[in-house]
Amino acid sequence: MAVLSVNVDHVATLRQARQADYPDPVEAATIAEQAGASGITVHLRSDRRHIQDQDVRTLRQVVHGKLNLEMATTDEMVSFALDCCKPDQVTLVPERPEEVTTEGGLDLLGHGDEIGTVAKHLADNGISVSVFIDPDPRQIERLSQIRGDLTLGFEINTDSYSTARGAGRDTELAKIIEVAELGMENGLLVYAGHGLNTDNVGPVSAIPQIEELNIGHAIVSRAVLIGMEAAVSEMLTAMAT
Ligand code: PXP
Repeated sequence: MAVLSVNVDHVATLRQARQADYPDPVEAATIAEQAGASGITVHLRSDRRHIQDQDVRTLRQVVHGKLNLEMATTDEMVSFALDCCKPDQVTLVPERPEEVTTEGGLDLLGHGDEIGTVAKHLADNGISVSVFIDPDPRQIERLSQIRGDLTLGFEINTDSYSTARGAGRDTELAKIIEVAELGMENGLLVYAGHGLNTDNVGPVSAIPQIEELNIGHAIVSRAVLIGMEAAVSEMLTAMAT
């Protein structure tokens, strides 16, 4: 079964809403790990709307499992990842200033060379690299070319699956299964996330090629009502059923 990386961005969203010093995403990360999360994810956005630079530095010291930093492929972010603290993993994501959340995967067909250069630079500096991509076999084929002798992972964007209803959800799940299988056949590490919650996570966590799920909004939303420890436990239970 897949392990769970908890994204604590929206703990910081609550803090930034009042420019306060609480709630603390680092404290949330500690509780999430105690509750069974295998690691912690944060997205340091260029506009710093939730997670701040110092959060990442402190998380580096506190997180015991894998610290995964989501970021755009900009020079600013690459320098930050290398200078701040070297997270265990960087997940490269597209970023648009006006978006509410990450809207889709990276376009490796159009920008594969640039993304490959960034991935190699990070990997040469000892950081594992994953790229966020839509469940499209052409993206996996391009990533396999880019990989060369690098150890590379990819995170399947599960948003279309999460928002689909009825038979549409089965269609979207089939796409995820197809790219998970293709990814593993091509020697890539396979992760997934976006929009997952306790109602829809089961079929995705059951896909054997997927090593890790990256879940944030649903867990933090639930944590507001029942606490972070209970929210993480609930998600782990849903992943196992
Ligand atoms: N994966 C990526 C690349 C993301 O950008 C996000 C949202 O920050 C997630 C996973 C988690 O999505 P959600 O908050 O909907 O669980």
